[in-house]
Amino acid sequence: MQKPKISIVGVGYVGLVAAACFADGGFEVIASTNDSEKVRLINLGKSPFFEPGLDDLISRSINSGKLKAVNSRKEAILNTDITFVSVGTPSRGDGSIDLQFIEQSSKEIGESLKLKENYHLVVVRSTVTPGTTQNLVKSTLERYSNKKAGVDFGLCMSPEFLRQGAAVYDTLYPDRLVIGELDAKSGDILEKFYRAYYKQNPALPILRMNLSSAEMVKDVSNAFLATKISFINEIANICEKVPGIDVSQVAKGVGLDKRIGPMFLDAGVGFGGSCFPKDVKALIAFSKSNGYTPNILETIMNVNLKQAEHVKDLLKQNLTNISGKKIAILGLSFKPNTDDMRESPAIKIINSIAPEGAIINAIDPVATENAKKVINHKVNYCVSINECLKDADAAVLVTDWDQFKRLKPKDFAIMKNRLILDGRRVYDSFEFKEAGYKYVGIGLGEEK
Ligand code: UDX
Repeated sequence: MQKPKISIVGVGYVGLVAAACFADGGFEVIASTNDSEKVRLINLGKSPFFEPGLDDLISRSINSGKLKAVNSRKEAILNTDITFVSVGTPSRGDGSIDLQFIEQSSKEIGESLKLKENYHLVVVRSTVTPGTTQNLVKSTLERYSNKKAGVDFGLCMSPEFLRQGAAVYDTLYPDRLVIGELDAKSGDILEKFYRAYYKQNPALPILRMNLSSAEMVKDVSNAFLATKISFINEIANICEKVPGIDVSQVAKGVGLDKRIGPMFLDAGVGFGGSCFPKDVKALIAFSKSNGYTPNILETIMNVNLKQAEHVKDLLKQNLTNISGKKIAILGLSFKPNTDDMRESPAIKIINSIAPEGAIINAIDPVATENAKKVINHKVNYCVSINECLKDADAAVLVTDWDQFKRLKPKDFAIMKNRLILDGRRVYDSFEFKEAGYKYVGIGLGEEK
């Protein structure tokens, strides 16, 4: 059989990274979005957003003719064999997810399937609550195509596990692939495509299951990772009560137990981003709508909220009063290597200290423009680290960008008061203490 042609509906970081990777791997790919500006940029070989390595992949795939962007769903569906749906699933006010883009794209894909003679496979890649593909997507596709799922077209749900800032790497080197399938034929086609794309890695585990279980795998993976972070943040807060105890060493000792694992045990100012907060809240809402109150999941979110506020408490403990004090915030994005501000701990930190009269300087390598849109308080956005630190009463490391991690005590010498609050535990506390700084680290019990 010929190589299947691929279409991608939705060009956020999940959809566009997949489009560029599949195209670079030799498949013909059509990326479809309603946003004409994004279509224009992609066809010029550029990414509409910042994601390391993506510009190169897109320009290579556009130049080779393997990738093109269109704003017509019909063109994308009629000219391809497999469609991956990667549209956004934002949070509603009550934490449940808003499925309007899933429903709309299913409708548009259905309308195109109606015009198509050949069998076509639709694969949901967006994060959706269990039951969505089986119920909403399947019925919408059938209604608008006038065709039968499992007979005239196939349907799968295949979650992605990409981290922003490492999305290209994670697409190229996944730990596993999960295929939720309506029927064996749908799953066979998707597995064949994955095996062809990942042919360099024949041992890659590909798990097949039903649609709802695959949806649950995604939600549970994110909830579990978020659990590890809130858990270690809680332990960090306990550690701070005991002189000399260090959560980093504790996490290392604990994480080497293979049953626990070392990753996602970095204590800090809490998790943010477009996934963990949204997906944990969605799982809580889903669980409650099914009559079960998930206590652990609710606590994960509460601990996370408090962790950002904890920064204010630490500042107050060490400055007595933060009113009129100049606080230098190093890093605004929710993690390094992205300009994404969604649910960033920096927002909560600034929102908690600004109303108490703190004067805020902030710097971020790429997220400043996005930060301006979501932070309503007065912030002096700086262009250099020096400008940010000058005359500051305290420096708070919020996002562990490399350029901040590299800073040495001498780089902070222009501060007025030598207080360093290391929100990501990236600095050597001894080095800073030796240089005459007051070093406060999340999860580090102060030596008396
Ligand atoms: C996450 C999942 O890792 C990914 O599998 C899923 O597909 C989407 O959600 P992402 O949100 O891009 O990816 O970033 P991630 O690297 O997981 O970090 C999320 C947040 O947790 C960041 O704010 C980060 O700073 C924080 N974090 C992560 C910690 O505070 N401690 C850790 O040990 C790890």
